[in-house]
Amino acid sequence: MVKICCIGAGYVGGPTMAVIALKCPEIQVAVVDIASARINAWNSDHLPIYEPGLDDVVKQCRGKNLHFSTDVEKHVAEADIVFVSVNTPTKTQGLGAGKAADLTYWESAARMIGDVSKSDKIVVEKSTVPVKTAEAIEKILTHNRKGINFTILSNPEFLAEGTAIKDLYNPDRVLIGGRETPEGAKAIQTLRDVYAHWVPIDKILCTNLWSAELSKLAANAFLAQRISSVNAMSALCEATGADVSQVSHAIGTDSRIGPKFLNASVGFGGSCFQKDILNLVYICECNGLPEVATYWKQVIKVNDYQKTRFVNRVVSSMFNTVSGKKIAILGFAFKKDTGDTRETPAIDVCKKFDWDHPAHLQPSSPTSIKTVSVVWDAYEATKDAHGICIMTEWDEFKKLDYQKVYDNMQKPAFVFDGRNIVEVEKLRKIGFIVYSIGKPLDSWLKDMPAVA
Ligand code: NAD
Ligand code: UDX
Repeated sequence: MVKICCIGAGYVGGPTMAVIALKCPEIQVAVVDIASARINAWNSDHLPIYEPGLDDVVKQCRGKNLHFSTDVEKHVAEADIVFVSVNTPTKTQGLGAGKAADLTYWESAARMIGDVSKSDKIVVEKSTVPVKTAEAIEKILTHNRKGINFTILSNPEFLAEGTAIKDLYNPDRVLIGGRETPEGAKAIQTLRDVYAHWVPIDKILCTNLWSAELSKLAANAFLAQRISSVNAMSALCEATGADVSQVSHAIGTDSRIGPKFLNASVGFGGSCFQKDILNLVYICECNGLPEVATYWKQVIKVNDYQKTRFVNRVVSSMFNTVSGKKIAILGFAFKKDTGDTRETPAIDVCKKFDWDHPAHLQPSSPTSIKTVSVVWDAYEATKDAHGICIMTEWDEFKKLDYQKVYDNMQKPAFVFDGRNIVEVEKLRKIGFIVYSIGKPLDSWLKDMPAVA
């Protein structure tokens, strides 16, 4: 019987292992973490992360073949396959600060695996790591060898938050990279057998280690690049009277381009895109490829530009200041259907305002803004507000009674839609001054140009 242990009970480790446990009832799965609060939450009725469908999967397997524990060493020692799904944030100091991936957590997990193992193991990189990380991990593990064989695989995760369970049930592909040696091939086969419980075999792609590691960074860079491309177009739409939704639709019907990931927005957020592109940029620079690095860096520059452009629109439309005004921020998560506020554009937008007066946020808790108050009801948040900024595309914000909202706001009442979810003309008829990313501007906005 195969035993799996996953180090890191976060947004990736938790849902991924829960689905493996559900789909492979004969496999024992332990998810371990040093954060005891997180493990306690996984063992409670209030899971530490919000993800549609996750509660149900966990309830079906927890206590049977799915266990959450802080006893990291015990479960690692007992496992045949160890997934490492720890966080790999951007380095904040030292060599490569602001760009390179911080592999401290990874290295400490690898050292611990080397220290406690008494049997052969397959060690799987689940975290997103720089290309060639497997080589470093191999060195750490084999240095501590004691006659034990460790085989490293790269098995990057492509799930998106908010749709994690759906993505895990029906992945576009599962990617497994390994050494092109008999041991490597055997390890790939073992992991392939796990996924083959529910993923069609032709969707399980097997590559060499470096291709798998790099494909993850490449996939995120391409996805983010699409958003920056459409956001760059949104600026041009506003300048010319074109409508970015119409442009997206028109180009997305070209089967070579495709319709997905072409929604203009206030900018992409989340814990992955920026971090992974910065990591890619750093790797390019380290490999003597400054032109390639500059190319990818531009994706982040356009994303920053989009957030600044949004803030400038808000401030310039509201007589060049929001100081002393109440701005209702609708939504704080980086996208709908998640409670995750890591790298959310809402934080950057709020920080860029020239305000000195509390604003109201709804519905998620802010992480680093101090001059705000949080309310759970959008009508309460917008009451007496001068302006509304829609930061997350929660369905609830599409269905608000905007006449009621308008009646209770200061006049002129502004809506700045960073997600293009409101019906612009309907709101304008009510009396709002509406800015929606990449949509034709009304005369008010045209008269108050925002310089980014
Ligand atoms: P997370 O911060 O939610 O979870 C990581 C967990 O690892 C934390 O709970 C932390 O306490 C734990 N940890 C760190 N060091 C440890 C150690 N030595 N021993 C035991 N536990 C340890 O991170 P996440 O969002 O799940 O991301 C994990 C990795 O997956 C990252 O590399 C990320 O880039 C990648 N990834 C994330 C997503 C996503 O949507 N969040 C998607 C694909 C890939
Ligand atoms: C991303 C990748 O999609 C996923 O494959 C990877 O494993 C982790 O990183 P995630 O960050 O969870 O997933 O969400 P995603 O749906 O990619 O959205 C990222 C950001 O882009 C969000 O802020 C979202 O609102 C924004 N976005 C997305 C747009 O602005 N426009 C779009 O068309 C799509």
